[in-house]
Amino acid sequence: MQTWALANQKGGTGKTTTAINLSASLAAAGQRVLLLDMDPQAHATLGLGCHVEEEHSIARTFLDDVPLAQLVRAAPGGFHLVPSTLGLADFEQVAERTIGPERLLERELEGFCDRYDWVLFDCPPRADGVLTLNAIRAATTTLMVVETGSFALQGALRARGLFEEKIRDLGRCPSIRFLATLFERSDPFSRELLVAMQARFGQAMTDTVIRTDSCLRRACAYGAPVRISDPASKGALDYDALARELFQLQPLPSADVEEPAYGSGVVRPFAPPRADSASLDFSETDPKPERVEVITRAEDPFSSLEAQSPFSV
Ligand SMILES: Nc1ncnc2c1ncn2[C@@H]1O[C@H](COP(=O)(O)OP(=O)(O)O)[C@@H](O)[C@H]1O
Ligand SMILES: [Mg+2]
Repeated sequence: MQTWALANQKGGTGKTTTAINLSASLAAAGQRVLLLDMDPQAHATLGLGCHVEEEHSIARTFLDDVPLAQLVRAAPGGFHLVPSTLGLADFEQVAERTIGPERLLERELEGFCDRYDWVLFDCPPRADGVLTLNAIRAATTTLMVVETGSFALQGALRARGLFEEKIRDLGRCPSIRFLATLFERSDPFSRELLVAMQARFGQAMTDTVIRTDSCLRRACAYGAPVRISDPASKGALDYDALARELFQLQPLPSADVEEPAYGSGVVRPFAPPRADSASLDFSETDPKPERVEVITRAEDPFSSLEAQSPFSV
């Protein structure tokens, strides 16, 4: 079972959009996926058209010890969801008088190991809250979701520093990856920023970039993943490409993991050929950038998925 926390101390970077649509793309490839909404704002829950009473919220696990398994429900897109509500925010106060409150989620998930291939946590926009700490402690990898807007590089560097420190404080070896979202191909600033981020984070950055696509916004309003509302959209293609890329990262057992130069504990077992970041060019006139190598093995559940993002390098 792979556990990934989608995090960033900033709001509006695309964490929830990624949580919903990555879950749907993984599920479309036959993976068993559980999405946990860890944010009291419950945007993932609402974005999946789910409106629940407090008694069916993940808050019950955190506040009243209700087993997580009792709160699981089906979400549109073929995966499972544990929804959230505003009441989850009360756990911040309860945690102050609890021993080891950041370990609760990890303990709960022990019973889930053989039920799911992937568990994703949609985190609140904080690095220090006890809900985020639960997610990053239970996660094998923290995926920092970074918007390619102004100050994105500074924001991403700050996020890396903050989260590395928190993960170490929790007694874990940080495994942090970076996903660039809201990418505007036509905007030179956005392109330069992406090159700078690739130069800075190297292999810790995913090859797949999520482009700005209004279909992703519309899908949220529609209450379903974009694969359902607009299956041929850029957003759907990009999240399929991301799912494929993350899936390709998985097979190496952690015992064989070699510490990479950037020290995040993440390796790329099937590293696709990479363009030198300095030579990256997204101009319209150039041929398409190199794409992520497509696995065609019969057992690859992603071989049926359409899509490679044109921005995968
Ligand atoms: N790739 C994208 N293209 C267009 N809009 C996006 C994209 N990613 C996110 N958005 C929109 O940006 C806003 C914030 O995204 P969200 O996923 O809720 O961020 P976060 O969870 O980090 O706060 C939402 O309105 C969402 O629909
Ligand atoms: Mg969110």
